Amino acid sequence: MSERYRGHFIVLEGGEGAGKTTLARSLAERFRETGRETVLTREPGDTVAGEKVRELLHLELSPWSEVFAFLVSRAQLVTTVIRPALERGDIVICDRYEASTYAYQGWGRGLDFDELERVNRLATGGLEPDSVLYLDLPPATGLERKHGEADALRTGQEELAFHERVRAGYLFLMEDAPPGRWHRLDATQAPESVATAAWEALGG
Ligand code: TYD
Repeated sequence: MSERYRGHFIVLEGGEGAGKTTLARSLAERFRETGRETVLTREPGDTVAGEKVRELLHLELSPWSEVFAFLVSRAQLVTTVIRPALERGDIVICDRYEASTYAYQGWGRGLDFDELERVNRLATGGLEPDSVLYLDLPPATGLERKHGEADALRTGQEELAFHERVRAGYLFLMEDAPPGRWHRLDATQAPESVATAAWEALGG
């Protein structure tokens, strides 16, 4: 569903250690330099409820409980941060969004895609990104980069085969997306090269 608002909703997606956080910061800086109001946010987190959800996600949850935890964070973020910013005309850069649920809980955990889509739509009210930047990286490389990270959630601690399925999921989602929405970036490149490629993909 496409919606009418004045802002631009950019989502960064990718597996573990792909460099989304670094790219998000760098893009926000570039947009601000051009004078655009820019909101930088991430999932899960960035609201009081979202931070509680992060705590919850350290527990051993059933696959569907995990989905609903992510959706609590998403619903709260959409309502209190993302939608208001887009209505003001801001650029919103969000580190992960619905594609993470499809890739991790759908492909990774094997939950039914149509059901995930249904519950996700309830959480987002149908708000979809204008642009998705997908940072593609072999999962083994990404896991190596993230090795030993203190705050890793349970999904980040899964075995390599899980992360290979997540990547397959992302590649499927990219193929299936409306033309022009998804942009694949080679995340094996240096961060500055990734940022330049991202900026060009966004038409900057
Ligand atoms: P996080 O610590 O925020 O780091 P990063 O986004 O840099 O990987 O980890 C978020 C974890 O949550 C990550 O393993 C992906 C996972 N995740 C899901 O499984 N489903 C979701 O819907 C979202 C938003 C994240």
